[in-house]
Amino acid sequence: MKRMTGLVLGSGLDSLVEKVEVKETVAFAEAGLPASGVPGHQGQFVIGTLGKSEVVVMRGRVHLYEGHDAKAVTAGVRWMAGQGVDSLVLTNAAGSLQEELRPGTWMILDDQLNLTGTSPLEGGANFVDMSDAYDIDWREEFLAICEARGIAMGRGVYAGLRGPQYETPAEVRMVRGLGADAVGMSTVLEAIQARALGIRLLGLSCLTNLGAGMPGAELDHGDVVAVAGKAADAMIGALEAWADGHSS
Ligand code: HPA
Repeated sequence: MKRMTGLVLGSGLDSLVEKVEVKETVAFAEAGLPASGVPGHQGQFVIGTLGKSEVVVMRGRVHLYEGHDAKAVTAGVRWMAGQGVDSLVLTNAAGSLQEELRPGTWMILDDQLNLTGTSPLEGGANFVDMSDAYDIDWREEFLAICEARGIAMGRGVYAGLRGPQYETPAEVRMVRGLGADAVGMSTVLEAIQARALGIRLLGLSCLTNLGAGMPGAELDHGDVVAVAGKAADAMIGALEAWADGHSS
């Protein structure tokens, strides 16, 4: 089977697909996934090439807060694995919990907190090692690519909550206290599923706002999508360069 790189596009980050030379599109429904009803999520896989790499792009994703369970939320990861994906980039829009990581900047995921209370691996003794869930070498590589391109990049821990409501200021203080640097409503279950399948991971959060209750924080999905849309442009070239490095 051909080795492919997968790319999951979060809220407002759909323009990352623009550089992909499209060979085929597959609607979520055709791949056995529920359609995503979230504005800014297309609900489609795109198979094609990005630079020198064969890619599968997941335009949008399925969330727990839409009423789906952990298995449904991660069906896309299993489908991509079936297409030959062995490297996966998970992107998302997230709230920043660090004042210096301003809206519009990106953060590379060093680690995650799964605070959803569920797992796609429930149902068996699936004791997957999550110690280095986000590939150590890729983190350093990707940071170097961003630095060379003058893209400011934070790094830290992403906390995934169920949503769909944004956090209260008390919840933001709680997740900061637990060691999170960014907070969102996706990614963590996909990362667990991917590691269970032996897929290597890179995680990128587009920080669209400061967490609730932080000075200057404003929370609105329209703003989230708009900020992510603007920040996406800076990331396209970096992702292409990174994927090129893994195309052989
Ligand atoms: N919290 C949770 N999810 C988010 C946020 C946030 O502040 N911003 C974008 N997605």
